[in-house]
Amino acid sequence: MSRLLIVHHTPSPALQELLEAARSGASTDEVKGVEVVTRPALGASVTDVLEADAILLGTPANIGYMSGALKHFFDVVYYPCLEAKPRLPYGLYVHGSNDTAGAVRAVESIAGAMGWRAVHPPVSVTGPLTKPALEACWELGALLAAEIGELA
Ligand SMILES: Cc1cc2nc3c(=O)[nH]c(=O)nc-3n(C[C@H](O)[C@H](O)[C@H](O)COP(=O)(O)O)c2cc1C
Repeated sequence: MSRLLIVHHTPSPALQELLEAARSGASTDEVKGVEVVTRPALGASVTDVLEADAILLGTPANIGYMSGALKHFFDVVYYPCLEAKPRLPYGLYVHGSNDTAGAVRAVESIAGAMGWRAVHPPVSVTGPLTKPALEACWELGALLAAEIGELA
Protein backbone atom coordinates (compact mmCIF):
# COMPACT_ATOMS: atom_id res chain seq x y z
CA MET A 1 0.00 0.00 0.00
CA SER A 2 1.39 3.41 -0.98
CA ARG A 3 0.81 6.45 1.20
CA LEU A 4 -0.30 9.92 0.12
CA LEU A 5 0.29 12.52 2.81
CA ILE A 6 -1.80 15.70 2.80
CA VAL A 7 -0.25 18.55 4.79
CA HIS A 8 -2.51 21.57 4.99
CA HIS A 9 -3.24 24.79 6.82
CA THR A 10 -6.97 25.32 6.87
CA PRO A 11 -8.06 28.48 8.71
CA SER A 12 -11.32 29.17 6.82
CA PRO A 13 -14.34 27.51 5.21
CA ALA A 14 -12.95 28.15 1.72
CA LEU A 15 -9.74 26.29 2.53
CA GLN A 16 -11.77 23.51 4.15
CA GLU A 17 -13.67 23.07 0.90
CA LEU A 18 -10.45 22.93 -1.09
CA LEU A 19 -9.00 20.40 1.34
CA GLU A 20 -12.08 18.22 1.07
CA ALA A 21 -12.00 18.39 -2.71
CA ALA A 22 -8.31 17.43 -2.79
CA ARG A 23 -8.83 14.61 -0.29
CA SER A 24 -11.81 13.33 -2.24
CA GLY A 25 -9.72 13.23 -5.43
CA ALA A 26 -6.87 11.53 -3.59
CA SER A 27 -9.32 8.85 -2.40
CA THR A 28 -10.92 8.27 -5.80
CA ASP A 29 -12.12 4.75 -6.55
CA GLU A 30 -10.33 5.01 -9.88
CA VAL A 31 -7.02 4.42 -8.08
CA LYS A 32 -6.27 1.43 -5.87
CA GLY A 33 -3.56 0.78 -3.32
CA VAL A 34 -3.25 4.27 -1.86
CA GLU A 35 -3.77 5.18 1.78
CA VAL A 36 -4.48 8.89 2.34
CA VAL A 37 -3.13 10.43 5.56
CA THR A 38 -4.15 14.00 6.43
CA ARG A 39 -2.19 16.19 8.81
CA PRO A 40 -2.58 19.85 9.77
CA ALA A 41 0.68 21.61 8.97
CA LEU A 42 1.32 22.39 12.65
CA GLY A 43 1.00 18.68 13.54
CA ALA A 44 2.81 16.99 10.66
CA SER A 45 6.03 15.23 11.61
CA VAL A 46 9.29 14.07 10.11
CA THR A 47 7.98 10.50 10.35
CA ASP A 48 4.89 11.47 8.36
CA VAL A 49 7.12 12.63 5.52
CA LEU A 50 9.52 9.70 5.72
CA GLU A 51 6.58 7.31 5.46
CA ALA A 52 5.00 9.15 2.51
CA ASP A 53 5.25 8.15 -1.15
CA ALA A 54 3.72 11.45 -2.29
CA ILE A 55 2.72 14.67 -0.60
CA LEU A 56 -0.04 17.20 -1.23
CA LEU A 57 0.44 20.65 0.29
CA GLY A 58 -2.34 23.17 0.90
CA THR A 59 -2.02 26.71 2.21
CA PRO A 60 -3.52 30.17 2.13
CA ALA A 61 -1.44 33.06 0.85
CA ASN A 62 -0.42 35.13 3.86
CA ILE A 63 1.44 38.42 3.49
CA GLY A 64 2.78 37.37 0.13
CA TYR A 65 4.08 34.03 1.38
CA MET A 66 2.93 30.55 2.39
CA SER A 67 1.16 30.40 5.75
CA GLY A 68 3.31 30.47 8.87
CA ALA A 69 1.98 27.00 9.64
CA LEU A 70 3.25 25.50 6.39
CA LYS A 71 6.53 27.36 6.83
CA HIS A 72 6.79 25.75 10.29
CA PHE A 73 6.22 22.34 8.67
CA PHE A 74 9.14 22.93 6.32
CA ASP A 75 11.29 24.19 9.21
CA VAL A 76 10.63 20.88 11.00
CA VAL A 77 11.15 18.46 8.11
CA TYR A 78 13.73 20.19 5.91
CA TYR A 79 17.02 18.78 7.20
CA PRO A 80 15.74 15.43 8.50
CA CYS A 81 14.12 14.70 5.13
CA LEU A 82 16.59 16.47 2.85
CA GLU A 83 18.28 13.39 1.43
CA ALA A 84 15.74 10.78 2.47
CA LYS A 85 13.01 11.55 -0.07
CA PRO A 86 14.63 12.44 -3.40
CA ARG A 87 12.10 13.15 -6.16
CA LEU A 88 9.14 12.78 -3.81
CA PRO A 89 6.10 13.55 -5.99
CA TYR A 90 4.23 16.56 -4.64
CA GLY A 91 1.33 18.83 -5.46
CA LEU A 92 0.25 22.22 -4.15
CA TYR A 93 -2.93 24.22 -3.82
CA VAL A 94 -2.97 27.83 -2.63
CA HIS A 95 -5.90 30.08 -1.86
CA GLY A 96 -5.67 33.84 -1.54
CA SER A 97 -7.93 36.84 -1.69
CA ASN A 98 -6.15 38.31 -4.73
CA ASP A 99 -2.51 37.21 -5.19
CA THR A 100 -0.95 33.82 -4.52
CA ALA A 101 2.26 34.32 -6.51
CA GLY A 102 4.57 34.81 -3.52
CA ALA A 103 3.17 31.78 -1.71
CA VAL A 104 3.50 29.58 -4.79
CA ARG A 105 7.04 30.77 -5.40
CA ALA A 106 8.03 30.13 -1.79
CA VAL A 107 6.67 26.58 -1.72
CA GLU A 108 8.17 25.74 -5.11
CA SER A 109 11.50 27.07 -3.93
CA ILE A 110 11.72 25.03 -0.75
CA ALA A 111 10.18 21.89 -2.28
CA GLY A 112 12.68 22.16 -5.12
CA ALA A 113 15.53 22.55 -2.65
CA MET A 114 14.36 19.33 -0.98
CA GLY A 115 14.49 17.59 -4.34
CA TRP A 116 10.75 17.04 -4.54
CA ARG A 117 9.13 16.73 -7.98
CA ALA A 118 5.91 18.57 -8.86
CA VAL A 119 3.50 16.25 -10.66
CA HIS A 120 1.28 19.14 -11.79
CA PRO A 121 1.42 22.94 -11.88
CA PRO A 122 0.16 24.44 -8.60
CA VAL A 123 -3.58 24.96 -8.24
CA SER A 124 -3.90 28.65 -7.45
CA VAL A 125 -7.29 29.98 -6.39
CA THR A 126 -8.21 33.58 -5.61
CA GLY A 127 -11.44 35.00 -4.25
CA PRO A 128 -14.70 33.12 -3.90
CA LEU A 129 -14.55 29.44 -4.77
CA THR A 130 -15.80 28.25 -8.13
CA LYS A 131 -16.69 24.80 -9.39
CA PRO A 132 -13.62 24.72 -11.67
CA ALA A 133 -11.39 25.59 -8.71
CA LEU A 134 -12.81 22.74 -6.64
CA GLU A 135 -12.50 20.39 -9.62
CA ALA A 136 -8.88 21.42 -10.08
CA CYS A 137 -8.17 20.51 -6.45
CA TRP A 138 -9.98 17.19 -6.88
CA GLU A 139 -7.89 16.44 -9.97
CA LEU A 140 -4.68 17.38 -8.19
CA GLY A 141 -5.45 14.87 -5.45
CA ALA A 142 -6.41 12.18 -7.97
CA LEU A 143 -3.28 12.79 -10.05
CA LEU A 144 -1.02 12.36 -7.04
CA ALA A 145 -2.83 9.18 -6.06
CA ALA A 146 -2.47 7.86 -9.61
CA GLU A 147 1.24 8.62 -9.46
CA ILE A 148 1.78 6.16 -6.61
CA GLY A 149 -1.18 3.78 -6.94
CA GLU A 150 -2.65 1.48 -9.55
CA LEU A 151 -5.41 2.49 -11.91
CA ALA A 152 -8.53 0.44 -11.13
C1 LIG B 1 -2.69 37.84 7.83
C2 LIG B 1 -3.26 37.57 6.46
C3 LIG B 1 -2.48 37.82 5.35
C4 LIG B 1 -2.99 37.58 4.07
N1 LIG B 1 -2.19 37.80 2.99
C5 LIG B 1 -2.67 37.55 1.75
C6 LIG B 1 -1.84 37.72 0.60
O1 LIG B 1 -0.68 38.11 0.67
N2 LIG B 1 -2.38 37.47 -0.63
C7 LIG B 1 -3.66 37.05 -0.77
O2 LIG B 1 -4.09 36.84 -1.90
N3 LIG B 1 -4.46 36.84 0.31
C8 LIG B 1 -4.01 37.07 1.56
N4 LIG B 1 -4.80 36.86 2.66
C9 LIG B 1 -6.10 36.28 2.47
C10 LIG B 1 -6.06 34.79 2.76
O3 LIG B 1 -5.26 34.12 1.82
C11 LIG B 1 -7.47 34.23 2.77
O4 LIG B 1 -8.14 34.80 3.87
C12 LIG B 1 -7.49 32.74 2.88
O5 LIG B 1 -7.07 32.16 1.66
C13 LIG B 1 -8.87 32.22 3.20
O6 LIG B 1 -9.80 32.70 2.30
P1 LIG B 1 -11.20 33.26 2.80
O7 LIG B 1 -10.88 34.36 3.75
O8 LIG B 1 -11.89 33.71 1.54
O9 LIG B 1 -11.91 32.12 3.44
C14 LIG B 1 -4.30 37.09 3.93
C15 LIG B 1 -5.09 36.86 5.06
C16 LIG B 1 -4.57 37.08 6.30
C17 LIG B 1 -5.41 36.79 7.52
